[in-house]
Amino acid sequence: MAIVSKQVSVESDPGPIGAPPGLPTLPGLDALFGAAYGAGYLIGGERLAHRLIEHYGPVMRVPIVGLGTLAVVSDPELVKQVFTAKPDVLLGGEGVGPAAAIYGHESMFVLEEPEHLRRRKLLTPPLHGQALESYGPIIADETRRAMARFPIDRPFRMLRAARGFTLDIIVRVIFGVSDRAEIARLGHPFEELLDLGLTDVAVVRYMLRDIGTMRWWPRLARINRDVVSVVAPLIAQRRRDPELSARQDMLSLLMCARTDTGEAMTDSEIIADLITLMLAGHETSATTLSWMFDELLHRPDALARVRAEAETGATEYTMAVINETMRLRPPVPFTARVTTGHYQLGDYLLEPGTRIVLYIDAVNKNPRTYLEPHRFQPERFLGTRPSTYGWIPFGGGIKRCLGASFSQRELIIATHTLLREGDFTPVHSHEDRPVRRSAVVIPRGGVEIRYRPRHCPPSQ
Ligand code: HEM
Repeated sequence: MAIVSKQVSVESDPGPIGAPPGLPTLPGLDALFGAAYGAGYLIGGERLAHRLIEHYGPVMRVPIVGLGTLAVVSDPELVKQVFTAKPDVLLGGEGVGPAAAIYGHESMFVLEEPEHLRRRKLLTPPLHGQALESYGPIIADETRRAMARFPIDRPFRMLRAARGFTLDIIVRVIFGVSDRAEIARLGHPFEELLDLGLTDVAVVRYMLRDIGTMRWWPRLARINRDVVSVVAPLIAQRRRDPELSARQDMLSLLMCARTDTGEAMTDSEIIADLITLMLAGHETSATTLSWMFDELLHRPDALARVRAEAETGATEYTMAVINETMRLRPPVPFTARVTTGHYQLGDYLLEPGTRIVLYIDAVNKNPRTYLEPHRFQPERFLGTRPSTYGWIPFGGGIKRCLGASFSQRELIIATHTLLREGDFTPVHSHEDRPVRRSAVVIPRGGVEIRYRPRHCPPSQ
């Protein structure tokens, strides 16, 4: 592990990054080090990464096989610089390139400008405004249905339960269906795709892409065929629907969307974006909800305040709890951008092709931004909005998460519904611990809890 070399004057020396002070440059062994760092992160996870950041400071250089040189950033000032950089200087699609393995190359998530922005504009209305308002009853309904299946007074894993009902929610808002069998049928191939995405196989395949590991992946090809076989007939059916333009589901909104120059999306673009929405919008919400419950059930005062808001419909404290949970437990621990040429990041000069990794988990816990950064303290967000570059669970700049408003609404409605209608207690006296699964960090034990409907007499 090395610090990215500090340049005294960029203008006078725009050359490549040098070796860190005291370390001989061993470029031939970079790949070997890279494999070791990669393996170290896979085994040591966030804890190891945090230790290294504490030791090396706000930017560190990590060569990783298949990913090139990584410059790992944990300082809000540098985050600001990266998020506000021009898109032809720092590439966003290439930055999240490993996601292409699962999301596919047509997903707006991995496209560069101007194509990315064209597609992003089309995806924005289904996730905001009137459409967003219309999803509220679906979120509450699916949460209640899930509660009806919770075991009473017996331990169960919140993460597993939340994955189930957030999947049903996203299927309903995307496809506008309400028949139970249809929800299950449509959700199935996407769930399989997500499961595949949650293994490290996708990242490893991306790292080895030069030898064709991305092109030849029979399991992924089979799941993608399944996705197309459930979605394509639905698109064809909607095209014949005379009520299409009146529908509020995301699929119909995308089918009716037009670019500034009046073009519609092709079927394969629509399918790619549905995959993006399904994958991006389900696991992340379920994980955050589980962490919220873990935090709240171990803090009776905070729990009582959220429950009181659930009764009145107020949201200020609940929102502060969501913000604090996402600060401490961001489900996506990093995102990245790639330099197109030599690039000065703060005091450092990076080589072309450097992957600038914004280490969300470390930025959110930067001691220069937060007092007692490792303590759960929702009050720090009362009466104030989270800092744009010091609180980045949704990333930032022109790639900031498009589903941020949706997920916040989903988290408020689901939490209030759960707490209004149920009593929950933690199974363990201590909180769950984080563990990385591919590109997300989840609670290792799945947050074990007990449930009892409110106003239900204790079982004998
Ligand atoms: C707690 C929930 C969520 C978290 C923590 C989260 C986090 C993120 C992050 C870190 C990014 C990358 C941003 C960047 O590189 O700057 C992202 C992108 C994205 N997210 Fe989310 N997300 C969440 C929920 C959702 C939901 C519910 C949806 C949609 C239903 C969604 C749709 C997207 C899309 C479409 C992008 C790509 C944006 C672009 O490339 O322009 N996300 N999200």
